[in-house]
Parts: sequence; C-alpha cells; structure tokens
Amino acid sequence: MAAYERSAGVSKFNSKFDVAQGQFMTAENSGYAIFQTNCASCHATTAMHGAPEPLFTSYGCTNIGVRSNPDVPSPDLGLGDSVGDTDQDGKFKIPILRNIAVTAPHAHNGRFRHLMTWSYLLTTAAVSLWMFRAMSVTRSATWG
Ligand code: HEC
Repeated sequence: MAAYERSAGVSKFNSKFDVAQGQFMTAENSGYAIFQTNCASCHATTAMHGAPEPLFTSYGCTNIGVRSNPDVPSPDLGLGDSVGDTDQDGKFKIPILRNIAVTAPHAHNGRFRHLMTWSYLLTTAAVSLWMFRAMSVTRSATWG
C-alpha cells in the first residue's frame, strides 16, 4: 500500500510539467512561454522555500483587482482585514496553481466558475491549454 502511494501514479508531482516538459506540444510550449512572461512573477515556475517542486506561487499577497461576487453577501477585504491595515485591503494570497483545472470555482470569492474565463481574460487560449494539460495531474501518464 505504502509503495503504491509513493508510486508515480498517485504522486502529487506527476503532471506533464513535472515529468515530460520535453514532450510539450507546440501549443503547450507557447502557453508556457506566455505564462513565463506574464504570470511567473507571481505564480513562480521554480521551486521555492523548500518545496520539492514548483507550486506556481511566490507565496506573496497582492491585489489583482478581482471584483466582488454578487452571490457573496459582503466583500472580503483580504489581507487588510487580517492585519487591520486599510492599505492592505484587496490583497490576496497568490494561490498555488497545481491542479488548477480541477479546482473551480476560482479566486478568493469563487467569482470565476471556469478556468477558461480566467485565462482568456488574462491572456490567450494557449495559456488555458497549458494550464489544463501541463499543470494538472492526469490519469493517462503516456509521457512517462
Ligand atoms: C501580480 C501578481 C500576479 C500575476 C502576474 C498573475 N497572477 Fe494569478 N493570481 C494572483 C493573485 C493574488 C490571485 C488570487 C486572487 C483572488 O483570490 O482574488 C491569483 C489567482 C489566479 C488564479 C485563480 C486560482 C484559484 O483557483 O483561485 C488563476 C487561475 C491565475 N491566477 C492564473 C494566472 C495566470 C494564467 C496569469 C498570467 C496570465 C496570472 N495568474 C498572473 C496574482 C497574480
């Protein structure tokens, strides 16, 4: 049982990004390049602070202007509320993007039900493809 749990099939770090970057499709490569340019300053693609693999976060807090969710009664002020400093209002933890394709809804208030909405909003379909296919664990481990 323990051996099975440690095996590649159930490892936390068995996305295509972890095991087969050399086998990225052209569109995935272009999504990765866009991600490096536009996203990695916050969602770091290198391992930090002792993590065994990149978790796609720099562990900071920042305000990216996510609007309130009409389905949520009162707005969440994020870090400002936690530390009692209005200068920090609207700042939220830069989230880990591991398995982002299966963790909807997105943002602190669940405003985005679909990853596609988010990534189209930010950049292009190539980034969506990269996040769906390369950053998330998949059951068909055809690359390794
Ligand atoms: C300046 C820092 C910064 C940059 C650059 C950035 N993000 Fe983020 N990202 C954040 C923060 C902060 C949140 C959390 C926002 C919230 O909860 O309201 C977030 C949330 C997300 C989420 C939602 C995660 C979840 O499930 O809640 C996705 C997906 C995401 N970012 C993808 C991207 C992509 C793709 C790019 C590049 C195109 C990008 N981000 C660029 C800071 C950043």
